[in-house]
Amino acid sequence: MIAHDKLPHPLEALPGLVETALPSAQFHLLRTIGDYAWQKQVALYLVGGLPRDLLLDHPSPDLDLVVAGNAPALAAQLAEQYGGSYQKHERFGTAKWISPSDIALDLISARKESYSRPGALPTVEAGSIYNDLQRRDFSINTIAMRLDGPHYGETLDPLNGYSDLQAGVVRVLHPRSFMDDPTRILRAARFSARFDFPLEQTTATQMQAALPCLAAVSGKRLRHELDLILEEADPAPALSLLEEWNALAAIHPSLHFHSSWQAASLQDLQLPQRYALWLMDLDQTARTQIIQRLVLDKPTQRIIQDAAELRKNAASLAAARCSERTFYLDGIALPAIRLMQSIDAGKAQEKLWTVYLEKDRTIQAISNGETLKALGLKPGPRYQQILTTLRAAWLDGELHTAQEEEALLHKLLAADR
Ligand code: CTP
Repeated sequence: MIAHDKLPHPLEALPGLVETALPSAQFHLLRTIGDYAWQKQVALYLVGGLPRDLLLDHPSPDLDLVVAGNAPALAAQLAEQYGGSYQKHERFGTAKWISPSDIALDLISARKESYSRPGALPTVEAGSIYNDLQRRDFSINTIAMRLDGPHYGETLDPLNGYSDLQAGVVRVLHPRSFMDDPTRILRAARFSARFDFPLEQTTATQMQAALPCLAAVSGKRLRHELDLILEEADPAPALSLLEEWNALAAIHPSLHFHSSWQAASLQDLQLPQRYALWLMDLDQTARTQIIQRLVLDKPTQRIIQDAAELRKNAASLAAARCSERTFYLDGIALPAIRLMQSIDAGKAQEKLWTVYLEKDRTIQAISNGETLKALGLKPGPRYQQILTTLRAAWLDGELHTAQEEEALLHKLLAADR
């Protein structure tokens, strides 16, 4: 509850916070490139997530560096002056400089953005730092600090981001913001949930009006924002907000989030498993349509569908013979089985998954292809059948020793003659 329990650090504390929070190698690199930018007479700014998070005492992984000029050119000059390498995307005005000490810094040319229609990608043109702050999503992401030479530490807050951090609200910068970029509805839920900041009232009204625009957004862009939500330490609060706002149904009428989100230990779940946890209980048709709408990749699709199948079949699997269950689970994506184990943690059913994952999965016959060859059996499909029968006998507790396996093997071979 940052908004209510704790006021942010004063804005003037930002330069000191940058120095203490960044690893010293990264901080010194920032100072170096700031000094270099000053020599080249280019203004350089630290913007967005890092200033916001430092002021809120929230950990932040991101360095968003905006160049009031040409970022690809600056990256190339930095590589020439200090070594390391760089990549550039002239078309987007972005670049990455990888320093000789292997620290990667993303540099973005300050830009102005305009949208041809709701949900379209923006048209980008060079702009001032003010344009660059203005094109952004929420005021709390528009606090900037200058890095170049003697200007180091000067803060910029032309859009009143700091007062919104103090008030603890998520506010868009202009009335068309959500219409221009409806993915901001998902971003609003993520920031609102992460910081426990409600949407400012006008922002909430504009967000509601823009819900129909979600229909025009590509699956890829929606998925990117949903990935970011699902990667939060706990995605449930943001998904609950989207449900409350009717934003999920605006993406697909059957897409919902119920607070019955399992207490599975989320820190152990990878992104595809998190999608599975969310979508596995939908009916088959809706699940398939949503997978298509979000253009989820094949491995993720499989984990979702397998988890849904496991949920449906859990009772009959528990009642099945061990070999039958094991052969079935061998065909299921492992992350789906691990997900079920996590969902069922502490329940009787947990054993079903744990026994497979920790024991049955690895049980094999002692005999192998070589053994069968040495016994004079001609290579062919019968090999697999025999080895499967032996494995099943081990799994079902019919074999206990190597001698018993050998006896069974000879019996099977005798029956073939
Ligand atoms: N941004 C935006 N509209 C979007 C995506 C991004 O305005 N649809 C802006 C935001 O102002 C943000 C910046 O681009 O500050 C960088 O985006 P991102 O890295 O996603 O945001 P962070 O604030 O760094 O989020 P996080 O803390 O989760 O990394």
